[in-house]
Amino acid sequence: MDGDVADLGALTDAAGKHDALLIIDEAHATGVLGARGAGLAELQDVEKQIDVTIGTLSKALGSLGGFVAGPRVAMEALINSARPFIFTTALPPACAAAALAALAIVETEPARRTRVLAVAAYVRQELRRMGYDCGDSATPIIPVILGDSEEALRAATALRERGIYIPAIRPPTVPPNSARLRISLMATHTEGHVERLLAALRLFRDVRQK
Ligand SMILES: Cc1ncc(COP(=O)(O)O)c(C=O)c1O
Repeated sequence: MDGDVADLGALTDAAGKHDALLIIDEAHATGVLGARGAGLAELQDVEKQIDVTIGTLSKALGSLGGFVAGPRVAMEALINSARPFIFTTALPPACAAAALAALAIVETEPARRTRVLAVAAYVRQELRRMGYDCGDSATPIIPVILGDSEEALRAATALRERGIYIPAIRPPTVPPNSARLRISLMATHTEGHVERLLAALRLFRDVRQK
């Protein structure tokens, strides 16, 4: 929710110590983090210590559906006994083809993830300079924690009126008094988009401070 990242080294150590299976969800990291865009485990160089990885085809890959990756024995067990998998319609071929095409783009166009991460770093820096609380965000998901739910809704409405769609996330999705705007940046956001966003949030801050 906060665009922050887990310490997978600590989690693999804890799993090893307790003889536990470590399953990680790379939904927001696939195609975005790591030298090859393989995710957070690649970025933190712990890929070999992860037992099972789950993820979605619906975020950076822009399709629909998801995946589970791990040892063959675990995959066979899921294929043969996971009821939600057995009793659901298979992924439409068009979605599978779109995800495959997106994976090829992830492999061959690394500049896209360099760009989205650079845009995110810039937006975070500017928002913090304005005095906003962006939590521990380290990815293209950036929370702007406002606290009050009504205020978060007011900010989201003001942004929407300026052609910027950023949802207001409120309790119970987040803890009490931590309502926030949740910014999701993309590699295709232009400098113009970013400056429009920052100008709108600067204005919102100024109105709020009055
Ligand atoms: C961490 C995480 N895992 C899984 C999912 C599910 O993805 P999908 O909507 O493609 O099923 C989401 C969706 O927001 C997510 O944030």
